[in-house]
Amino acid sequence: MERDSTGAEPAKAGAPAGGSLRDRLRSIPVFAAEIPSFDPVAAPGDPVELFTQWLDHAVAAGVPEPHVMNLATSDAGNRVASRFLILKDAGPRGWSFATGSTSPKGRDLAANPHAALACYWPRVARQIRVGGTVAPESPQTSAADFLARSAEARAEALVGGQSAPMESVEQHENELAEARSRVAADPSLVAPQWTLYTLRPEYVEFWQGAKDRNHIRLRYTAAGDGGWDRVLLRP
Ligand SMILES: Cc1cc2nc3c(=O)[nH]c(=O)nc-3n(C[C@H](O)[C@H](O)[C@H](O)COP(=O)(O)O)c2cc1C
Repeated sequence: MERDSTGAEPAKAGAPAGGSLRDRLRSIPVFAAEIPSFDPVAAPGDPVELFTQWLDHAVAAGVPEPHVMNLATSDAGNRVASRFLILKDAGPRGWSFATGSTSPKGRDLAANPHAALACYWPRVARQIRVGGTVAPESPQTSAADFLARSAEARAEALVGGQSAPMESVEQHENELAEARSRVAADPSLVAPQWTLYTLRPEYVEFWQGAKDRNHIRLRYTAAGDGGWDRVLLRP
């Protein structure tokens, strides 16, 4: 069977095929699944509570990897970059993720702490957007996050140099093998650049898609007193 460069099989009967890419993109359905209801009037006063409810619901509904989030940062020259990361926690202090402080995103955050993250859960037609300022957690907290990772993941971070060009896949495999030996010899080894960051939200927005396009958007904005103002937005 012929495969493309991704190793994927050709489109099966019933899947979009032929026509221009534009036509094929237009033929892909959106909001195809059974969509849950969302009553913004009954929503809790705290966005972390609503996020927790939605996350638990997404897990129960079988949304794949709902803890994957997109993070947008920008550098000192306002050039924006985004990428996907794993959400580590969400609580009163904000939304947490971990990466290397010397990576491009780590350097962006050092130059400009303003950032935004978003999750999209297609099976339940829900999007969550969070924007605010990011600060690193203490070295002790970051180290604890690092040591809670798998040995494989720790070895990968110990190789370091995230996003720097490399000679070949084999070169990285050799570096990984060396780092795995270091982890095995000293399980308390911590990659110095590994950092747990927390995004303290200025706003949190919940978007519930609807098949009739009467989407619901509920935005929480941080009030100065530690509470939250809530407003519905036009979709
Ligand atoms: C599903 C998924 C989860 C990821 N999780 C992380 C993560 O938690 N931390 C991380 O540093 N990179 C993670 N990555 C890799 C990043 O998307 C990105 O390629 C890498 O961090 C380099 O980003 P930068 O060059 O903007 O710094 C993940 C990628 C995917 C696809």
